[in-house]
Amino acid sequence: MKPPFVIAVDGPAASGKGTIASRLAGAYDMPMLDSGLLYRAVGVLLARHGGDFDDVAAATQVARDLTAEMLTDPAFRTREAGEAASRVAIHPSVRLALRDMQQAFALRPDGAVIDGRDIGTVIAPAAPAKLYVTATPEVRAERRWKQLQGQGEAVSYEDILDDIRKRDARDGGRADSPMRPADDAVLLDTTEMTIDQATDAARRIVEAARARWELS
Ligand code: C5P
Repeated sequence: MKPPFVIAVDGPAASGKGTIASRLAGAYDMPMLDSGLLYRAVGVLLARHGGDFDDVAAATQVARDLTAEMLTDPAFRTREAGEAASRVAIHPSVRLALRDMQQAFALRPDGAVIDGRDIGTVIAPAAPAKLYVTATPEVRAERRWKQLQGQGEAVSYEDILDDIRKRDARDGGRADSPMRPADDAVLLDTTEMTIDQATDAARRIVEAARARWELS
């Protein structure tokens, strides 16, 4: 039997992957999972309970106790939450604890769009459509800065660029880092693109993948 039509959208922070993923989900009427939200929730809930990001056992327990119903808190969307997420995401046992929830989503018979760092490599390696969305750190920082300003967070561009660089180093700096493109992912560099152009390019990649999947 064919695997469900999963679209894996991976890439670094503020590359545009979240917007692209949600637009793809809307265009194809497919359910979407923002896997970063799981890591954000673990980081924020751990900190809220007075936990330390380096306390692997405590972070893993929070990850094991996480349910889909807990993911609606707007506090998970802040800059601080992104930072907390990347601190807990380095623990392999946290990643493992969050794996089942993500893989169950990837098995939905009607398919799914999932965005993250390791969707095409670890969570859904059989996904028929894999995109790896990138842009320069400067362009990503500008996008994230505008987004946070829209949410009412007063932060400077320089601080955001610094965040992005640290996050890239933490997410992708080790040999076993999850943040790398799958061998069969299509790279989409959005540096010079508007979000509409990036979405159109993503749709073309997905449509080619869908045609292959339908023939398989
Ligand atoms: O994508 P987002 O900015 O919400 O992700 C927050 C952090 O969560 C990332 O910087 C990364 O450390 C972690 N993450 C991850 N694997 C994923 C999604 C997010 O390690 N699939």
